[in-house]
Amino acid sequence: MQVLSVCGGVPLRGTAVIHGAKNSVLPVLAACVLCRSPCVLHNCPNIDDVESALQILRHLGCTAARSGSTVCVDASGMDACQIPPELAGKMRSSIIFLGAILSRLGCAELALPGGCPLGERPIDLHIAALRQMGAECVCSPDCVCCRAARLHGAVIALPFPSVGATENALLAALGCGETIEIQNAAREPEITDLVRFLQSAGAEISGGGTSKLTVCGGRPLHGTTYTILPDRVETASFLCAAAGCGGDVTLVRTDCTALSAVCSVLEGCGCEISSGRDSLRIRAPRRLRASRETIVTAPYPGFPTDVQAPMMAALLRAEGESRICETIFENRFHHVPQLRKLGADIALCGQTACIRGAERLRGAALHAEDLRGAMALVIGALQSEEESTITGIKHLRRGYDNLEENLRALGADVKCVEIC
Ligand code: UD1
Repeated sequence: MQVLSVCGGVPLRGTAVIHGAKNSVLPVLAACVLCRSPCVLHNCPNIDDVESALQILRHLGCTAARSGSTVCVDASGMDACQIPPELAGKMRSSIIFLGAILSRLGCAELALPGGCPLGERPIDLHIAALRQMGAECVCSPDCVCCRAARLHGAVIALPFPSVGATENALLAALGCGETIEIQNAAREPEITDLVRFLQSAGAEISGGGTSKLTVCGGRPLHGTTYTILPDRVETASFLCAAAGCGGDVTLVRTDCTALSAVCSVLEGCGCEISSGRDSLRIRAPRRLRASRETIVTAPYPGFPTDVQAPMMAALLRAEGESRICETIFENRFHHVPQLRKLGADIALCGQTACIRGAERLRGAALHAEDLRGAMALVIGALQSEEESTITGIKHLRRGYDNLEENLRALGADVKCVEIC
């Protein structure tokens, strides 16, 4: 078993490199099944979720190969429409293949997806959108099966701007010869990136980045070369690590355009953040001030739920009391009991966590249960002079490329050890 050993208590100083966005590359890889000639994707992070998506593509009859951070996908020979449980179960985003496969082959069968245990995570909005375009969808407890001889035009008003449902509706809509309008669409930058990728492959889509997407589908897409946008959650995670530990950190190959909600909280707590052309610098005091405002997670451009756990960890030693309210997922506080083992003072009241800054944190044996929660444990452990160990690091491998090296480049004492 692999365990992460973390000894902290020192400010972080130096430069870390940010990779391509996990939540962008995964739907883009699913979208590649719509392209009849090869796609070349640059800036693909080397993480387990991307590897899982490549395995799904190969299972579907596509070729998919990585060279460094570039991935080439050729879907011209795609001939299968099923994703079995051993592949679908590895990550939540396997669900995005549903709309794409349906659009390409007229039928799609998917074992129900895995991913982080953040609550029930239903797919009713995905299914309702596909049904509105004329797909017949049959859902059993462990599988969903969709068929459509022909998809038709529709106005799909999402009751909630679900990221995944927007992506699925968008990809399915490209197989429809009529116009599809998606209202109350998610506006996350990763959706905008997906739209840009699809446009570069010949798709006719307007409204990227707004809550109304209009798709004129029905034309096969061609191959394209595309560069995935920088990962704003990885960027925010490193900002939170620097904020929690103090120090002076520069993040390269990223920017702060999509991070104003996160940056304004950190600035309010005493950090200075400045941005260069492709970089971001944070200077953080040895000890933060608590956040005066309650941090409330919300769909983009609100405070991202994916940064809730890393931000909580950054605030563990902040002077005063901070509050974080989680509104997107009903069960996204798995990291709280683990952070308490470090000596953190966190009270939970429903969906709100109240963090009273501790002067010192201690070392502890921690266990991660989800991806961003795992990063919160790393950030917490980095603030203690004593050694901590973290198990469950398979979650970190799903979403952070080169994590230990990146942290060591900032002076952190972090290593992965194999124990029996
Ligand atoms: C995506 C991101 C994830 C992020 C989340 C919210 C990827 C691969 N994952 O997940 O990192 O935390 O957006 O920003 O991009 N819901 C329903 N029915 C549905 C779909 C969603 O009730 O059919 C609910 C979910 O249970 C959740 C909320 O809507 O409470 C948000 O989910 P959604 O925006 O769909 O998130 P994901 O696409 O799963």
